[in-house]
Amino acid sequence: MKVTVIGAGNVGATVAECVARKDMVEQVVLIDIVDGLPQGKALDMAQSAPIHLFDTRIVGTNDYADTANSDICVITAGLARKPGMSRDDLLGKNASIVQSVTQQFAAHSPNAIIIVVSNPLDVMTYVAYMASGFPSNRVMGMAGVLDTARYRAFISAELGVSVRDINALLMGGHGDTMVPLPRFTTVAGIPLPELMPAEKINAIVERTKFGGGEIVKLMGTSAWYAPGAAAAEMVEAIVKDSGRVLPCAVWLNGEFGQQGIFVGAPTRLGKNGVEEIVKIDLTADEMALMQHSSDDVRTNIEALKRIQSA
Ligand code: NAI
Ligand code: 2OP
Repeated sequence: MKVTVIGAGNVGATVAECVARKDMVEQVVLIDIVDGLPQGKALDMAQSAPIHLFDTRIVGTNDYADTANSDICVITAGLARKPGMSRDDLLGKNASIVQSVTQQFAAHSPNAIIIVVSNPLDVMTYVAYMASGFPSNRVMGMAGVLDTARYRAFISAELGVSVRDINALLMGGHGDTMVPLPRFTTVAGIPLPELMPAEKINAIVERTKFGGGEIVKLMGTSAWYAPGAAAAEMVEAIVKDSGRVLPCAVWLNGEFGQQGIFVGAPTRLGKNGVEEIVKIDLTADEMALMQHSSDDVRTNIEALKRIQSA
């Protein structure tokens, strides 16, 4: 199998490294617009193979011909947040980058599955879907795996339990209105509300919603270790056809009351990409949060359409 990662910056290089270290595909291709950057990072990673012990070949390139016949593509190309910027400030510039890289990639790999990472995530996934012409099961966005990882890390630190025992679900867009769902959060099967007072849970939910911004504030740019690992986890689920159920930004066609947008929902992943959107009954309050978050995504799509027609 062959995995292409577009954008050899912080997130893209981490995705490439995480995928290679899982030693599950023959080749990872890292492509960027900057000459030398993907080549240098690929060479450096290849030289870590005798230490980490993987056989995946890593190729760095600026030429889409080298990505031909990829099975999976992770799109990380674009600008990242700087302090004071929201994900939405990246809208216009990243849309033209994502559109252009998707078209170039899709022309060489018409049967691939695309995972978008570039922000604002839910809208960029929509852009890649339109630009690729691929069916909706073969286009998805990575956000929920990262956001639940942050949420689980905070719960682990608070309760002093292993991250291994924490299972969680989060829905909605990858923005400040994302919807962590404490009712569907368990520690070794025990519902979180039985282990933690409501105020503590609320504080963790709030910290999760602003988890990306917390890191931007600390280091002046956005995160990459957890985002890279999260995208690689989705790649692994598809490569191994494992049926893992992960929160992904997927095309909703009436599920959860949403129509014709990409937004986060529980998704069973396999060799065809999105195998199933797992349906659960949300309470009226949860539905209202999901609606609010999805409305934010719709507002961004409308804003993008205005930018594109100006
Ligand atoms: P970065 O600036 O380190 O890397 C971006 C790379 O994209 C650069 O190497 C740049 O040369 C490349 N690039 C720009 N235009 C290109 C083009 N036309 N073709 C190919 N490559 C191109 O940024 P970083 O930190 O890697 O973030 C990448 C994106 O991922 C940002 O939009 C960021 O907001 C987003 N992100 C999304 C997350 C999520 O949960 N969905 C989490 C973290 C970051
Ligand atoms: C994050 O959540 C900025 O989307 C990026 O870290």
